[in-house]
Amino acid sequence: MKKKRDKATFAPMYKSIIRPLLYSMPPERAHYFVTGWLERFYQLGLLQSPFTPSFKVEDARLERKIFGLTFPNPVGLAAGFDKDAKWIDSLTELGFGFLEIGTVTPIGQPGNPKPRMYRLVEDEALINRMGFNNDGVDAAVERIKKAKRSIPIGGNIGKNKVTPNDQAVRDYEICFEKLYDHVDYFSVNVSSPNTPGLRELQGKDELKRIFDALFTIRSKQSKEKAVLLKIAPDLEKAQLDDIVDLVKENGIDGLIATNTTLDRSGLHSPKEIVNQAGGLSGVPVKNKSTEVIRHIHQASDGSIPIIGVGGIHSADDALEKLNAGASLVQLYTGFIYEGPWLIKNINKRLLS
Ligand SMILES: Cc1cc2nc3c(=O)[nH]c(=O)nc-3n(C[C@H](O)[C@H](O)[C@H](O)COP(=O)(O)O)c2cc1C
Repeated sequence: MKKKRDKATFAPMYKSIIRPLLYSMPPERAHYFVTGWLERFYQLGLLQSPFTPSFKVEDARLERKIFGLTFPNPVGLAAGFDKDAKWIDSLTELGFGFLEIGTVTPIGQPGNPKPRMYRLVEDEALINRMGFNNDGVDAAVERIKKAKRSIPIGGNIGKNKVTPNDQAVRDYEICFEKLYDHVDYFSVNVSSPNTPGLRELQGKDELKRIFDALFTIRSKQSKEKAVLLKIAPDLEKAQLDDIVDLVKENGIDGLIATNTTLDRSGLHSPKEIVNQAGGLSGVPVKNKSTEVIRHIHQASDGSIPIIGVGGIHSADDALEKLNAGASLVQLYTGFIYEGPWLIKNINKRLLS
């Protein structure tokens, strides 16, 4: 077979041609523009062809075995990018070691009015208040069934906006039951800032109720799948200690740290963008998220598996998260700013 060229040589083209083109569009439109072309390239066989350069780094040394799963490499796509499980096969060709679909909710919902996503170019960041726009869990299941699936897929689950918090457990149960046979692990999302009241479910009692309900369902399944909790970067140390206790006491399989932040300190972008409501992601959340990972890792003596996410824009950033105690990492904003070469750069760095 013809040896694939190193795609890193194409990376400057992304920053000089493709990214400026994308910046000329509103961020949400750019998202669908990119994923539309990604899917077209995939359907034409261009991403998989031995004659086109590959994003993948295939090496047994990158493999991670965790949650009873084998990850071909530790670099995953964070939740929110492929909310509806529409692009599993094409995203796999970009070299990710795993993908997390969702957040899905029991019933499809439109999310918040547009515009609801903002670029903070000077800060290499995004602010979003999407509000769990998604087609609902049934649609996601149908799409996952059709996907080829060569890497682990996580299912990130949440509650509908119209569901009051005292009935939220049922929403998590519905998504969990419907997705159970179709994903490899679960992420319970109570940390998005864009669904009113959702973060109140991060309290110890509320979380215990949700996880008890999910574990009851799990106990009736033939195969045990890992259920992780995705947490916010805005928790105080005492709240993180509570979470460490809760994870240990209840057998929660791991943590995803972190979601977006509400903190707006130290930003350089125009005020009218910085002041937009929503969660901030990208470079400004990097250190906060790494400190959360470090704290949990130390407080639990390394006994809690952590997926590290927040502001990974370079191989160094990924190493920082892994050195702080993460077993795997995920990207969202860095993937948009740096392009798919970021995945390859991180994996190559891990081998060097
Ligand atoms: C536009 C956008 C939508 C997101 N949607 C979700 C979501 O539906 N569920 C979720 O758990 N996290 C969601 N996130 C958060 C990311 O998964 C990630 O935790 C966060 O952005 C920090 O990582 P990053 O700095 O690499 O983007 C979203 C992030 C962005 C930028």
